[in-house]
Amino acid sequence: MKSNLSKYSTRFRDLDPAAADRAQASLERRLEGFRLSLDLTNILPWIKGPDVLDFPVGTGRFYPNLLGRYNVFGYDIAGEYIRRAKIQNPEIADNFWECSFEDIRKNRLFDSIVTLRTLNNIDDTEVAIRHAASILKPAARWIFNYPPSGARYHDLREMLSRHGLRVIREKQYDFHAGKVRDSILSQRIYGYYVRLIEVGLVPYVVFRVVDCIFASRGTRLFVCEKSTS
Ligand SMILES: C[S@@+](CC[C@H](N)C(=O)[O-])C[C@H]1O[C@@H](n2cnc3c(N)ncnc32)[C@H](O)[C@@H]1O
Repeated sequence: MKSNLSKYSTRFRDLDPAAADRAQASLERRLEGFRLSLDLTNILPWIKGPDVLDFPVGTGRFYPNLLGRYNVFGYDIAGEYIRRAKIQNPEIADNFWECSFEDIRKNRLFDSIVTLRTLNNIDDTEVAIRHAASILKPAARWIFNYPPSGARYHDLREMLSRHGLRVIREKQYDFHAGKVRDSILSQRIYGYYVRLIEVGLVPYVVFRVVDCIFASRGTRLFVCEKSTS
């Protein structure tokens, strides 16, 4: 049975080059550079190789940091992002495929899958979990983030376990991911803070301290391991 796509997924499936350019341009922000460093610090130590899938690749924010260390693969529902990933990486162009969590490509199994900033926006979380689990090798890892405010946070561990995935680490991080739910006052303060970051008045070390203090308002990073049986 075919699963539904959320509005979020449909928007990306139909992404046009101008929208992809805008998303790419947003990565130039200092804040995004800091958030990428935060992701790398938290995630790289948990990645198992040799075959690592960045799913979805999006603008190509994360996977370039894996090149040269692992066999890197990338999937995304957005054909435009996959087209760009192939052009940017001609030597591994065949490793990038257009596919969705709902209709996943099953031709290859991976030692790790990294899924950032996406799972909470998928129409059916359990379908995504089942399909991600189906392309992991035994004892392989799925690393993803999911916010405590997400609709399926309360039964996430249960769903993971139903599909043979055991959570080996859950950690709070990236409070920026949760800012939209804050009060008007805290959003305003947050706005000033981001401006200070953008003009270079907040060094990375201060950003890390602020992130540690407010991490409980952000998202959660899960590292899961697939059973061996
Ligand atoms: C906010 S971006 C995150 C991209 C990347 N993981 C990162 O951290 O930069 C969300 C991504 O989810 C992808 N996406 C949305 N719905 C999807 C689905 N149902 N299956 C696969 N990818 C999907 C979009 O195309 C987009 O690249």
